[in-house]
Amino acid sequence: MTPLPGTAPASMTEDQLKQYVADELERGRDRSIGLTTGVLEDGDLLAQHSKLMSPLVWDLAHVGNYEELWLLREAAGIEAMRPELDDIYDAFEHPRATRPTLPLLEPQEAGDYIGLVRRKVLDALDTLRLDPTRELLGSGFVFGMVLQHEHQHDETMLATHQLRRGNPVLPATDALPAPTALITSAEVLVPAGPFTMGTSTDAWALDNERPAHQVDLPAFWIDTLPVSNAAYRAFVEAGGYDDERLWSPAGWRWRCESGKRSPAFWFREGNTWMRRRFARVEALPDDEPVQHVCFFEADAYARWAGRRLPTEAEWEKAASWDPDTRTKRRFPWGDEAPTDDLANLGQTRYHPAAAGSFPAGAAPTGALQMVGDVWEWTSTEFTGYPGFRSFPYKEYSEVFFDDGYRVLRGGSWATDPLALRTTFRNWDHPIRRQIFSGFRTARDV
Ligand SMILES: [Fe+2]
Repeated sequence: MTPLPGTAPASMTEDQLKQYVADELERGRDRSIGLTTGVLEDGDLLAQHSKLMSPLVWDLAHVGNYEELWLLREAAGIEAMRPELDDIYDAFEHPRATRPTLPLLEPQEAGDYIGLVRRKVLDALDTLRLDPTRELLGSGFVFGMVLQHEHQHDETMLATHQLRRGNPVLPATDALPAPTALITSAEVLVPAGPFTMGTSTDAWALDNERPAHQVDLPAFWIDTLPVSNAAYRAFVEAGGYDDERLWSPAGWRWRCESGKRSPAFWFREGNTWMRRRFARVEALPDDEPVQHVCFFEADAYARWAGRRLPTEAEWEKAASWDPDTRTKRRFPWGDEAPTDDLANLGQTRYHPAAAGSFPAGAAPTGALQMVGDVWEWTSTEFTGYPGFRSFPYKEYSEVFFDDGYRVLRGGSWATDPLALRTTFRNWDHPIRRQIFSGFRTARDV
């Protein structure tokens, strides 16, 4: 894979950057089509597979509408093509549950619309100057934002696929077994001291990752690996869901009201634990990181294990900080772009790799799989960093600050490498389980 512009924006000429953007636009679109019109009939695209999710055809047209808004109108100054679509595809006007009632474009119309937007974007890219004095255009930021947005919706569409019932349409297996690490210790020590959290220099980093700032942390221990299905099953079988003392008050309320007794998509056949994955049923693999757990479940497990969830700052320090050189890494292994032997990212598999994979992807602390496989819940509530400034619009992240959302870090197998780095922040309601979420635990020294 070509180096990502965020890793070395200065090393690309404007023409190289434009070519890179054009290539990445095409790669992202191929992915979107492969999750929608490329694999599903119209009925499946228009259906709402869960009240938690949009109809897939909404995501598809929304991606094109966002691209039109930011790349054609804001960046290139071109007039709106279909102004009547703006309201329908505005995520803030219509919650997901109500989207099927909107006058949505039919799949064919949606495909035509986003295709036309894309052709105009490529024309505009040819002549547009990526003027470094315009914050939106310098280093191609707005293109990076739109590319990340499409990949984020692709991951959301994968969560919709996970909730969908019917014939399987996504690949069942993968060709590449992940490289295996020799695990010598269940936890790693992160030494005390200040580190740099966030970034002020990563060209395509989003507003909530900025600005870089010093955070001083006491020493702590963090799990070498994400918590596995086998470890989580032990919590389930030990009666963890029935012991109120293990749950926060809000977590216990969720547990009682939801009636849940295991992660989403788990079920028992006799004595065997099974899972449903993209419309297929299979035995639960012991060695994969647990996924589809909510924040409350992760928090209760950690208490049962005599531990706690890491804070967001602890997670980022463990994943990115080299205490010997006092430098920060864009990925746990360094600044080089992810490859298949470093992490499980980019939908190359349709599941997490075994806990204990990717020795070459270790962080300086020795922690493994800090990026890829599963998003990791942290104990931190989503808010802005000191000196935060919303850019280019408040609804990207600021409107979600201080509203009970918990931060998740590290990306999942479904996250594209272009939409991830160790500073990247995701957030969700503490009850959400359809996302590809797991966790690891920590403790004080
Ligand atoms: Fe969106």
